Amino acid sequence: MKIAVIGGDGTGPEVTAEALKVLQAVSQLENFSYDTKEFDFGGERYLRTQETLPEGAVDELRNFDAIFLGAVGHPDVAPGILEKGLLLELRFQLDQYINLRPVKLYPGVETPLAGKGPEDIDFVVVRENTEDLYCGTGGFLKKNTPDEVAMQSAVYTRKGCERCIRWAFEFTRQRNNPQGKMLTLVAKTNVLTYGHDLWWRTFQEVAEEYSDVKADYNHVDACCMWMVKTPEYYDVIVTTNMFGDIITDLGAMVQGGLGVAAGGNINPDPGGTSMFEPMGGSAPKYTGQKVINPIAAIGAMAMLLEQSGQPAAGQRVLQAIQTVTAAKMKSQNAGKMGYDTTQVGDLVVEALG
Ligand code: IPM
Ligand code: MN
Repeated sequence: MKIAVIGGDGTGPEVTAEALKVLQAVSQLENFSYDTKEFDFGGERYLRTQETLPEGAVDELRNFDAIFLGAVGHPDVAPGILEKGLLLELRFQLDQYINLRPVKLYPGVETPLAGKGPEDIDFVVVRENTEDLYCGTGGFLKKNTPDEVAMQSAVYTRKGCERCIRWAFEFTRQRNNPQGKMLTLVAKTNVLTYGHDLWWRTFQEVAEEYSDVKADYNHVDACCMWMVKTPEYYDVIVTTNMFGDIITDLGAMVQGGLGVAAGGNINPDPGGTSMFEPMGGSAPKYTGQKVINPIAAIGAMAMLLEQSGQPAAGQRVLQAIQTVTAAKMKSQNAGKMGYDTTQVGDLVVEALG
C-alpha cells in the first residue's frame, strides 16, 4: 500500500503523526507493509511559493493508493484559497465523488443530546462530493455598484447523482443494519424543483434494484430536527454536496465534536485514489501545544485501512479507539482529554492488543 501524507497546516501535522504511529503498530499486528511519502502542501508552502498545488502534483498523487490529509487552513492566507486550491481541487481532480462521514458516538463520549447513547447515535452520511454549489459556476454583474448582481449556480448531473446514489445503496446493503437496512435521501424537492427532482427521480429508479433496502426521504430541514430528536431513526443518509457539508457538522457535534469526527473522500472506481481526513480544521490557536485530540485523525486512518484493502486492520483500530474513549479519556475536547496528543496516540497503540 502506497500512502501519500499531507500533514498540512496548524495542528494537522500533530494529529497526522499519531495516525501514522497507529498505522505502524497495526501493520505489524496485521502483517501488512506500506510505504508513505510526505508532501508539504498547505499554507506555509503557499506563503513561500504562491502556489497551492505545484505543477504535476495531482498526477503524482494519482499513483498512490490513498492520501492522508491532516488539515488545511492558515491564519495568514485569505479564506478560500487553500480550501479551493488544495482540498476541493484534490476532491475534484481525483474525482472523489463520495464523501463518507460516519456519525458514531463512541462509548464514554459525551453527546449534547440528552438521554442518547452509543446505541442511538450510529449512522452514516454519504455526501456527493463533486457537484452542486461546489462547482464554482457563477459570476458578478456590475460588481461594486448599487446594481450589483451575484449568481452562483448549483450543478447536478444524472451521472453524478446516479453514481453516488448507487454507491450509497450498495453501502447500505453491505452495512446490513440488523435493525433494518434503510437509505434516506436528504434533499429539498419542495423548493429545488429541478436539481433535486433529478436526484429524486434517480433515487426512485436505483431503489428498484435494491428491494432489500428501504428507500426513505427527508427534506433537509426536517432531517436537522430528526438528527437531534431521534438520531436512532437513521441508518444511511445520501445527500447533495452542500447539504451534506452542513448536516455533517451537526453530525460531528452529535457524535462528540470535531475531535472525533472523521471522513473519507472516496473514488471507488478501479485505480481511484481516495483521501482521508479528520473533519476538524487546522486549529491555529492550539498549534504546537500538544493539546489537540488525535482521535478523529486516527479514525480517518481506520477508514483509510477499511477502504484500501485492510478491513481487519481498520476494524482493529476502530475497536482500539473505542477502548480508549470508554476507559481512559476524560473528554474529547482539546486540552481536556486528561492526556496530551501523543499520549492519546500511545493509548490507542496499547489498546490494539
Ligand atoms: C468540509 C469543509 C470543506 C467543505 C471546506 C473547507 C471547503 O467544510 O470538508 O466539510 O465545505 O467541504
Ligand atoms: Mn464542512
